Amino acid sequence: MAPAGLAMRPGQLHRYAAPTEPPKEVDETKRNVLKLLAVAGLVGAAGGGLGAGAFQYVQPPSVGLASFPKVQLLDLDGSPLTVTKVEAEYNVLTDDVILFNYPLGNEPNFLINLAPATPGGVGATNVKNGIGHQSSIVAFSAICQHLGCPAPAINFFPPGTCPQTPGGHTFYIHCTCHGSTYDPTNGAANLTGPAVLPLPQVILQWDTSDDTIYAVTEVGPPVNGHLSTLTGDYGVGTQSQLTKQSPTRLCNFPS
Ligand code: FES
Repeated sequence: MAPAGLAMRPGQLHRYAAPTEPPKEVDETKRNVLKLLAVAGLVGAAGGGLGAGAFQYVQPPSVGLASFPKVQLLDLDGSPLTVTKVEAEYNVLTDDVILFNYPLGNEPNFLINLAPATPGGVGATNVKNGIGHQSSIVAFSAICQHLGCPAPAINFFPPGTCPQTPGGHTFYIHCTCHGSTYDPTNGAANLTGPAVLPLPQVILQWDTSDDTIYAVTEVGPPVNGHLSTLTGDYGVGTQSQLTKQSPTRLCNFPS
């Protein structure tokens, strides 16, 4: 049986007062999220009208450096790297990939000594921007200028590893992804495509007072994948330690 207050005769209209609700508090977080979604929708619609390519230049908040720092190179064991060590341990026949980051943490570079393993053997001395007793120690970005394959997919190929390039080069930096080849004796200029730009070169400085080595700047195009070589990650600090990788060996020249 219905309670007395709700009992009605058949056909009787009855009006109930709308329930009184306490005023709702404004949820600022939800409101702000909705605002953002609305703005995103408008921007997306505008982007669609302008073409999908309009968004390729939208960058996340950038980090980086204002200028190229002077960074001391450290050996694999963390001790100061010296020209004496490099000349004793590495030469044009070195098979390992020797890397260091500079100037940013996500910018790996090759350290290569192009000097012959034995006097008068195959190799190169007095090369562009080389340091050491034979001006044969150089450093280049280890990220390919084509589509950005990093070491060890791109690496230095000692003499005899793969056939000569067009032009007769027997040792070079070769990217196994699509076959780009660079000349480390000439600023990593292109020897074969599909890349068209040279690899950026790290300029090394030899402090002859204590035989130590510093990276001091970088020349050439920006590191691939970066708007500028100084933008896109945090700096390495005042020192950068060598690392070693095994190379990928594949003679993948464009046909
Ligand atoms: S990424 Fe190196 S050749 Fe394509």
